Amino acid sequence: MNIIELKNIHKYFGQDGNRVHVLKGINLCIEKGDFVAIIGQSGSGKSTMMNIIGCLDVPTSGSYKINGVEVGKMSKDQLAELRCKTFGFIFQRYNLLNNLKASENAALPAVYLGLNAEDRNKRAVELLKQLELGNKLGNKPNELSGGQQQRVSIARALMNGGEIILADEPTGALDSKSGEMVMEIIKKLHRQGHTIILVTHDGKIAAQASRIIEIKDGEIVADERKASDFYEVKDAVKPVKRSRIDMMKYSFLESLKMSLHAILANKMRSLLTMLGIIIGIASVVSVVALGNASQAKIMAQINSMGTNTIDIMPGTGFGDMRSGRVKTLKVSDSNYLARQGFVDNSTPSVSASGTLVYGNYSLTAQLRGVGAQYFEVKGRDIAQGRVFSEREVDNMASVVVIDDNTLNEIFADNPNPIGEIIMFNKKPLKIIGVTEKDSNPGPMSETMNIWTPYTTAMYKINGSSDINSITVKVSDAVNSQVAEESIENILTALHGTKDFFMINSDSIKQTVESATNTMKLLIASIAVISLIVGGIGVMNIMLVSVTERTREIGIRMAIGAQQADILLQFLIEAILICLVGGFMGVALSMIIGFCFNTFSEDFGMIFSTASIVLALVCSTAIGIIFGYMPAKNASNLNPIDALASE
Ligand SMILES: Nc1ncnc2c1ncn2[C@@H]1O[C@H](COP(=O)(O)OP(=O)(O)OP(=O)(O)O)[C@@H](O)[C@H]1O
Ligand SMILES: [Mg+2]
Repeated sequence: MNIIELKNIHKYFGQDGNRVHVLKGINLCIEKGDFVAIIGQSGSGKSTMMNIIGCLDVPTSGSYKINGVEVGKMSKDQLAELRCKTFGFIFQRYNLLNNLKASENAALPAVYLGLNAEDRNKRAVELLKQLELGNKLGNKPNELSGGQQQRVSIARALMNGGEIILADEPTGALDSKSGEMVMEIIKKLHRQGHTIILVTHDGKIAAQASRIIEIKDGEIVADERKASDFYEVKDAVKPVKRSRIDMMKYSFLESLKMSLHAILANKMRSLLTMLGIIIGIASVVSVVALGNASQAKIMAQINSMGTNTIDIMPGTGFGDMRSGRVKTLKVSDSNYLARQGFVDNSTPSVSASGTLVYGNYSLTAQLRGVGAQYFEVKGRDIAQGRVFSEREVDNMASVVVIDDNTLNEIFADNPNPIGEIIMFNKKPLKIIGVTEKDSNPGPMSETMNIWTPYTTAMYKINGSSDINSITVKVSDAVNSQVAEESIENILTALHGTKDFFMINSDSIKQTVESATNTMKLLIASIAVISLIVGGIGVMNIMLVSVTERTREIGIRMAIGAQQADILLQFLIEAILICLVGGFMGVALSMIIGFCFNTFSEDFGMIFSTASIVLALVCSTAIGIIFGYMPAKNASNLNPIDALASE
């Protein structure tokens, strides 16, 4: 039965003027189990014909059938599958991968077959032992002699079965003794049932074949059968079952391993390539962490204003110069608001600045007249004593709560000032409480603050019924925006005109949040530019890498790698570089953050898991985007062109 049928095969190389006609109508049938030698002078077209038979190259015209199936109609992947399962190549120059051990080189075709690592290795070791290389399993090609390398390549040709062995000058680079050994092996393979096609220009070698075909100037000029020794296929040719999933899995694992090899083989280059990614990722992550930190700090300050509180002040806004003098708010307004359903409580607030006298001390302080709930609303905790009660507010009690600044200033020697009397603007006030240190120090954190009931401040200290502001705490269930509108309506109705303005802690919070988010986005997008630059660096190196490894790509294709396998291999390499760069970038920004947090006391970088995950996703995406083009280039290479490159 004919396993190979060539009909009227023509092959031209080159274009137009340089066009050469290399094969001129080849007609050839080769039977299963035959041992064919092709001889002819240099340049006669032997290798060209061999490459067409091995599906590494395509004829310009003519028909080529394997087992009765037309090869010309097959897709690139089907051709790769043929090379993988049916053919075993033995090249004159061995074509082993230099960075792989003998056993790995021999096992390589089975990766593209979908055999697992253990079975692969077992079979490779078995084959190498049969070829008397049992003691050279771990050697790389440059640690082997030519004859040994050629035997490794024979093992590789047999790895997936090698039903048809194509040997192009297998002894060409060997001394006569090694050459004889290789020929003995080839003859043995013939006896085991392999179909052998051997190219040689050596008549003595050709004489060992069963059939000798002579080719001259691209035409078959002689075809002589010397023996009809067809052997039955023995267990040497064992087609291996594979599933698509297995194939992808092992190809993926192998690609991962190869990528690691490639990256480690060029450590310095890989590191420099990663640098762009490292800097890009580190700056994005750090910027976001800094943004988070400043946002958190501002938020904490806003929170110290009280949660869900609305401050009502006289005038039209902060810019209103009269605001300090306008006295339109009254205690009755506050009381009226306090009775509204959506209001938890409402306290007027009066301020007075003046001189505080205690013993020998006389200093300027800020006194605020507030309601009993003030401390709760503002979230000020009491360190000693208590706050004043409703009754004390009603009775204009001469009591005062001081803050820790005041305590430190005038009671440095007396840690327990409760019950002491201080004088404010010559009015005696009894200290009943001391507040904790402000946990969210704001711009006014150094000022000395003391608080009395607002009634006391109004009538006993200021001597007028004017108030400076009203602080309303809105019920938690009520939207602060809605509350603000209601208050505006109520007070406008009471006053007949809108002579006040409001500061809503929630809306400030939202404004600050959106402002800092915009800032973060802006700075992060500048940092993203460095990521893109890094990505271009990766693409550049990958293009170089593909060019450097064109021959490797050719070898892989010759032994059965499909386009997707090659694509995957280079894509994984690009992704790996970017991902490792990404991890290093995140680590770098963590180090920056650590240093920053160590040296700055009240301000720490805050790393969010989301930004780190996003950074890593980003670097993977960069690997895919910038690695795709070089990987696609690699996978689109023509097997024979890739193999021919040096
Ligand atoms: N890619 C190519 N582009 C142009 N010409 C080519 C190409 N490949 C081969 N040729 C030409 O085709 C002819 C046949 O080449 P081929 O390699 O088949 O010869 P060969 O019989 O194998 O010779 P040798 O014994 O030296 O290996 C040569 O003249 C060569 O220059
Ligand atoms: Mg040749």
